[in-house]
Amino acid sequence: MALLEVKNLSISFSGIKILHDINFSVNEGEINCLCGENGAGKSTLVKVLSGIYSDYTGEIYFQDQKVSLLMPTDSVKKGIFAVQQHRDLAPSLNAVENMFLSNEIYVGKSKQRLDFKKMRALAQEYINKFNIDINLDVPVRDLKVSEQGIIAICKALVRDCKLLLIDEASAPLDDEERRALYASLQNLAKEGTAIVYITHHLDEIFKIGNTVTVLRDGRNAGKFLVSEIDKPKLIAAMTGDVKLYSRSLEQKKVLSDENVLEVKNLTVKGLNNISLSVKRGEILGIAGLEGSGKNLIALSCFGYNKIQDGEIILKNKKIHLKSPIDAIRNNIGLVPDNRKEAGLVFSKDISDNIIITYLNKYNQQLISTAETTKIARNYINKVRIKCVGPSQLVEYLSGGNQQKVLVSKWLQSNVDVLFMNEPTEGIDVAARADLYQIFRELAQEGKAIIITTSDIDELLELSDRIITMASGEIVNEYSIEQADKQVILADILISA
Ligand SMILES: Nc1ncnc2c1ncn2[C@@H]1O[C@H](COP(=O)(O)OP(=O)(O)OP(=O)(O)O)[C@@H](O)[C@H]1O
Ligand SMILES: [Mg+2]
Repeated sequence: MALLEVKNLSISFSGIKILHDINFSVNEGEINCLCGENGAGKSTLVKVLSGIYSDYTGEIYFQDQKVSLLMPTDSVKKGIFAVQQHRDLAPSLNAVENMFLSNEIYVGKSKQRLDFKKMRALAQEYINKFNIDINLDVPVRDLKVSEQGIIAICKALVRDCKLLLIDEASAPLDDEERRALYASLQNLAKEGTAIVYITHHLDEIFKIGNTVTVLRDGRNAGKFLVSEIDKPKLIAAMTGDVKLYSRSLEQKKVLSDENVLEVKNLTVKGLNNISLSVKRGEILGIAGLEGSGKNLIALSCFGYNKIQDGEIILKNKKIHLKSPIDAIRNNIGLVPDNRKEAGLVFSKDISDNIIITYLNKYNQQLISTAETTKIARNYINKVRIKCVGPSQLVEYLSGGNQQKVLVSKWLQSNVDVLFMNEPTEGIDVAARADLYQIFRELAQEGKAIIITTSDIDELLELSDRIITMASGEIVNEYSIEQADKQVILADILISA
């Protein structure tokens, strides 16, 4: 018996139909992976099932009863709980307060007094499963993206839910944290919880899924048993194109020996005596766990972190960066790993977001709408941003398409040195291949690129050289020929 059955579900926004007669089902104890390209409608379906979008047509049956999910409490009361793609934590509350928000535990039955001690102990118990030390006393906005990701997941795990919907929650996690997530989900499924799991990392589907449901352009494109499908077939169902995935990158070659950026003996809070250099045309990969300091190099070279000691040398000239604007004017860019908080202005449209850094760089106040529209259209075509047009608000784009806007903004800024933290977070398989090609081309134009990502396969695919980091220090450096996944993992895990 299906725990949840969705029949002919449709929804439109501003007159545009986003989901077209979707049928969807999941049984008790089943892990049903939901996949599809950026903008296919996955998060929209999750939002309907979690009572956020009520303006749908069609029927939803839960435990064989027809239900109306018109607001989030309707779903929660039925035992349906979602980890949304944007993590949706209350930024000023700490981890414990977030995990038990509207699911509080009281002392005794009278519900007069909150049992802080019990909530804290439970929060710690769930966080411990991820083998990570999270400060429970600070507002979550001060925590790292991966820590916030784990809190959002734990918030769901502490609930006694019958149906758990997880929208790309694993994206900011490293390998070890992912394994902990899989173990938790598999245990829940064994106990009978139905799980809908959204991911762009197809390997995850084969690791934890029983079934996989594919959406394409807001329509059903099949439901398969994971044991009866392979990656190429899955990609064909997602994209409607068998050839797309077989693209291979142009041969890697570093253009010259000329160092564009040199960092000498850099020490900041969390980083100790870091020295590295990046050449023209080179893609340098940095591998490390969260907390290893891998992101701090970028933040320091982008004028964001206060430098205690050491030098940053750009094209043989020592530079002093007081702020990100200084960095931008020195032709240094940064794609940050938290697009919502630091990367994009959600309340502005695609054009404004793409043009904003470019204007800052040239201290330019005015630009014609015709020109910004033209620039935005160029990127909409180049990286295939699925949208209504350049004037669509970024807030209303799907997660992966927002990420494409973020990358486009830095492509437009035409910087010499580009740091990118988790540049393909939330990007679908086909679009990821497109972006890899664009990054390669950027390098070939003579830029220096520094990438950090928790996805080691991505680092191996893109980099010319890889540095491993742990505890704020560089552990080793490898040319791409020397590097392999085991060696990198050994460095970042054993030295941590
Ligand atoms: N509130 C909204 N208003 C207008 N359009 C919207 C809204 N929410 C979603 N859309 C549009 O609906 C389509 C589907 O978006 P959705 O977020 O469901 O995609 P997705 O499959 O989750 O993609 P991704 O993999 O990038 O997260 C997108 O084209 C998006 O622009
Ligand atoms: Mg989504």
